[in-house]
Amino acid sequence: YTEAITIPVIVNILEDPAHPVTQAHIDSQIEILNEDYNNANPNTSGAPAEFSSLVADVNITFTLASVNRKASTKTTWGTNDAMKYASQGGIDATSPSTYLNLWVCEIGGGILGYAQFPGGTNATDGVVIGSDFLGENTAGGVYGDGRTATHEVGHWLNLRHIWGDGRCRQDDFVTDTPSSDGANYGCPTYPTINCKSADMTMNYMDYVYDDCMYMFTAGQNDRMRALFIPGGAKESFVN
Ligand code: ARG
Ligand code: ZN
Ligand code: CA
Repeated sequence: YTEAITIPVIVNILEDPAHPVTQAHIDSQIEILNEDYNNANPNTSGAPAEFSSLVADVNITFTLASVNRKASTKTTWGTNDAMKYASQGGIDATSPSTYLNLWVCEIGGGILGYAQFPGGTNATDGVVIGSDFLGENTAGGVYGDGRTATHEVGHWLNLRHIWGDGRCRQDDFVTDTPSSDGANYGCPTYPTINCKSADMTMNYMDYVYDDCMYMFTAGQNDRMRALFIPGGAKESFVN
């Protein structure tokens, strides 16, 4: 699929007064997604020569469709999808076949966010982001610049972690991402060699600080775009 893609976003916020989510957080998150998915992250210019020719403009535009807020007394939601069901104190998804649903709540356990891969249950389709990690200049510190959503939306668009969640020979099903033996953290210096090649630590699908991740590859772009062809899991977004 080669056309420009627009994805309307529904932001579902389970409000915790100790972790406020402002309209500025929401607006800046949409901006960050648009930068990252349109090769407009200013940090990308620092890509090492080995990787710079692989940088992809994914050409997906995210628009804010609506914001739903609900007061909650729950301090930790965990990762069992309760935030996605009104019957469990959460907010029901809005038309997941035509909107990206983004839930914002206190997840707990040091988890920044999580996502559902394509092909899962409709009611739980979307992305969950911890309240301190939505948008720019948040309370999230080194994870306070909106890249958790970029990473989780990557999963929602079928991307695996850059290391394939295994050791050197485990594939992420993308040929132009070098294999690695595991996640990288912090802000690694280039080259960080594992599995006899430099890790693409600056890929959005690694685990580095928000400011240190700044690229998707052409191969990842192909994998995401394959969802939008006729018969693909997300074709309903482009019809
Ligand atoms: N699912 C990952 C976690 O919760 C998200 C990592 C996002 N990385 C980031 N720099 N924001 O740990
Ligand atoms: Zn992940
Ligand atoms: Ca690979």
